Amino acid sequence: MHTLEISDLKVHFPGRHGAPVRAVDGVSLHVAAGETMGLVGESGCGKTTVANTTVGLLGPSAGSVKVMGTELAGADRRTLRAVRARAQMVFQDPVTSLNPRMTIGDAVGEPLYVRGIASGRALRERVAGLLDEVGLRPEHAGRYPHQFSGGQRQRIVIARALALRPALLVCDEPVSALDVSVRAQILNLLVDLQARHGMSSLFVSHDLAVVRHVCDRVAVMYLGRIAEVAGRDALFASPRHPYTRALLASVPEPDPVVQRAKPRVPLAGEIPSPADPPAGCRFHTRCPMVAEVCRREVPALRAVGESVVACHLA
Ligand SMILES: Nc1ncnc2c1ncn2[C@@H]1O[C@H](COP(=O)(O)OP(=O)(O)O)[C@@H](O)[C@H]1O
Ligand SMILES: [Mg+2]
Repeated sequence: MHTLEISDLKVHFPGRHGAPVRAVDGVSLHVAAGETMGLVGESGCGKTTVANTTVGLLGPSAGSVKVMGTELAGADRRTLRAVRARAQMVFQDPVTSLNPRMTIGDAVGEPLYVRGIASGRALRERVAGLLDEVGLRPEHAGRYPHQFSGGQRQRIVIARALALRPALLVCDEPVSALDVSVRAQILNLLVDLQARHGMSSLFVSHDLAVVRHVCDRVAVMYLGRIAEVAGRDALFASPRHPYTRALLASVPEPDPVVQRAKPRVPLAGEIPSPADPPAGCRFHTRCPMVAEVCRREVPALRAVGESVVACHLA
């Protein structure tokens, strides 16, 4: 049993002009026990919608989402509540994800208190342990969010997410709102905690350098669908989908020699609207390799080399 199993997930929103916004439109992926799965793609491709669905914040329009084997689609409130304990989310913005009027001790302990797992002294001890795990001190418990830096606030959010010992940590752009100088610390903290607790993680980011740093496998999304899934090394060394290649080409290489040698595959044009996606392959309007078949037929995911790719030409 995988920690997370998503099959043909669709999440559609009511559109302003009648046509539904097909934010997620047939996504399948899994996250194995202890694994970190990256989910990358340009802004608006549906990453956050997938993330929110896996923690039960959004209901699927169709398809299946299973956390530790429990189906979320159509689940009743009790089941959803139980699943939410197993799948915790770390959001992008540590400022809005903490209540400014709650001490951080109360914020971190709240999931334990609300579920009747600990109270009083036992709760205070659990909170102190959680703060320690994320590199904060027990005496911080009495302070308020505004007394902390952005990086420290994200540590607090992570401590709160760990409180119920989840099997799956869903991180949606967890360092995008932070100063560049503290990003690596928070990423390393997440990697350490995950290894220590044997957690799985779905790690959402538009930043390929970040994904490369923390993920075992990577799924590339384009306009509500999966374009390619591969192990981290295979994806970065030999991307198979033209979209993956274009994304990788846009990441600057730290080594100037490598950077100069890199093929330039410019991503032409705008991302089409998910309310009116192109027929056939959704990437065909921007693809440098586009062929006739791409305009007509939706490419199925198939194995190519070490990747699974949705491309007629790969
Ligand atoms: N509640 C909503 N109502 C209508 N459209 C939405 C809603 N949430 C997201 N969308 C649309 O769905 C698409 C995917 O959004 P999102 O999942 O936030 O993408 P990402 O996280 O990759 O940037 C976008 O076109 C976005 O405008
Ligand atoms: Mg997002």
